[in-house]
Amino acid sequence: MDAPAPSWQRLYADEEFNWIWPPAYEPNSNPHELEQILSLLEAQPGARILDLACGLGWLTIPMTLGGFQVTGYDLSAAMLAGAQESAGQADAHIEWVRGDMRSLPASWTETFDFVTLTLSEFGCFQDEADNQRVLTEVARVLNSGGRFLLDIVVNRDELILNGDRNNSFDGGGFLIADKGSLDLLSGIYTRAFQWYQQGRRHETTWQIRAFTPPEVKRMLEQAGFRKASAHRNYAGDALTRDSAGMVFLAQK
Ligand SMILES: C[S@@+](CC[C@H](N)C(=O)[O-])C[C@H]1O[C@@H](n2cnc3c(N)ncnc32)[C@H](O)[C@@H]1O
Repeated sequence: MDAPAPSWQRLYADEEFNWIWPPAYEPNSNPHELEQILSLLEAQPGARILDLACGLGWLTIPMTLGGFQVTGYDLSAAMLAGAQESAGQADAHIEWVRGDMRSLPASWTETFDFVTLTLSEFGCFQDEADNQRVLTEVARVLNSGGRFLLDIVVNRDELILNGDRNNSFDGGGFLIADKGSLDLLSGIYTRAFQWYQQGRRHETTWQIRAFTPPEVKRMLEQAGFRKASAHRNYAGDALTRDSAGMVFLAQK
């Protein structure tokens, strides 16, 4: 197993993550999206759900409060600590497990009815085999007929359509410049962030392998999923070439 991409290590191993993806995804912040996800999965209360790379638990906690048996899994101790604190405040009893999504616990084979991987860093590993391994592990821990919601934050078709871009966003009192570029041969999409804070210049990059929809479909099939559909959002609308992200629904 290769080392994770350097950008991944920086963003999730330390607090820099906090300014890039601030609390938009805190528990209960997206009740509408939660409903759409459960409806897309056709999930009924009582089912066992693995919320993979659960982050701060925006999905994990309300799903538990809605009557599902949910396990939250994430590699970042800081994310899990935040999620646990929110769960405690909400009186939601959740199994939290820290680990890498490339290697789920051996005892979880055919345990879950559903797996969710939302706002995911799918494609974050430099070694293509590691990206495939995530899907193979998800297929292993799902029961036969179980469903997997894979929400990927980039879509190579859209990046090609719209070209490289320069944006900026508010980092909370200072502006963060965000320059995105796609390397056509490797398929690696890089976002370079720069900002000035208290007179000091900061910079960091974030990288992800941008997949096309057929590439993801093929990887899902290779992992053992027998059906897959692609959508532009959690409402289940069909994927279009200008969808900034992709939501796949796959069945084992
Ligand atoms: C952008 S956040 C999304 C969190 C959550 N799913 C959501 O929708 O808000 C990505 C999460 O993936 C986790 N993550 C990244 N790489 C991981 C890995 N190899 N194994 C497990 N979790 C990982 C990070 O710690 C982070 O919490």
